[in-house]
Amino acid sequence: MHTVTAPHPVGGWQQARRERVAELLAAHPDAWCPDQYHNPDNVAAYRPLAYELVAQLGRVDTLVVSVGTGGHSAGIGRVLRSFFPALRVVGVDTCASIIFGQPAGTRLMRGLGSSIYPGNVAYELFDEVHWVAAPEAVWAARALARTRYATGGWSVGAVALVARWVARTSPAEQRIVAVFPDGPHRYVGTVFDDDWCRRHRLLGHVPAEDPQEITRCTETVVTRWTRCEKVERPAPGVGDGGGGGGGMAAEDDGRGSAAGDGSCGSAAADGSRGTASGDGNRRTGPGDGNRGMAGVAR
Ligand SMILES: Cc1ncc(COP(=O)(O)O)c(C=O)c1O
Repeated sequence: MHTVTAPHPVGGWQQARRERVAELLAAHPDAWCPDQYHNPDNVAAYRPLAYELVAQLGRVDTLVVSVGTGGHSAGIGRVLRSFFPALRVVGVDTCASIIFGQPAGTRLMRGLGSSIYPGNVAYELFDEVHWVAAPEAVWAARALARTRYATGGWSVGAVALVARWVARTSPAEQRIVAVFPDGPHRYVGTVFDDDWCRRHRLLGHVPAEDPQEITRCTETVVTRWTRCEKVERPAPGVGDGGGGGGGMAAEDDGRGSAAGDGSCGSAAADGSRGTASGDGNRRTGPGDGNRGMAGVAR
């Protein structure tokens, strides 16, 4: 086990970890790194999930997906767009992540967000991006736990918050798929731990009914749930724009792996109903009432 002990001066913990991996690769010629940020196999691995959604749902109008390495949004989104050219793709990031052009900052949320520019992010896919703050994601993950059979951690909370809003503000016949990347099991000591949340001032913040709106991703530094309908690849020079060795920007990504494990659940909702999730067990079902649900995972 190798642990980095100090953040990279520009690229934070995430870049420090990547540099340690590069050193190890150089020192061990037989070593191999999957490099989830830039490896096209990450994207390709999610294509079957999209075909599964098409087979089960028949039609998808909107996809709500979190973005970390960009893998699952690119893999699922490109296939769905090929079936449904008018598909609306809604990206969900966290405040202080640089992926969509915001400046880097300290991030508590794991899974979604990045302090480098992953080459796997399919910028051309996104019709809009939402940034969600940690207290808002905690509120949503806990509300799901209280009121639904399924919940999850940071990204599930953030996606659920955004998907609920998308459902509420879309025509009733719209079919919305929201991808829940995992279940709650990894967040017992954080999102679902009252003491931990209190220490990090995460409790008691009820998110606004609607996101704050900005017209350009760089217009202002966002600190709460915010939406932008103009998504662009951040300008070259800010990072590597993807594809290369990982662009850099400052701040903390935490020392543990911020990366996912390639597992994604998904959920679909019709019109203004809520959302539901896959929970790590492959699961499909009709949902309740006219809320068509299809949860699939791994
Ligand atoms: C829990 C969780 N949420 C969100 C993500 C972001 O997904 P992606 O890396 O496919 O963009 C990951 C990624 O690994 C994850 O583990």
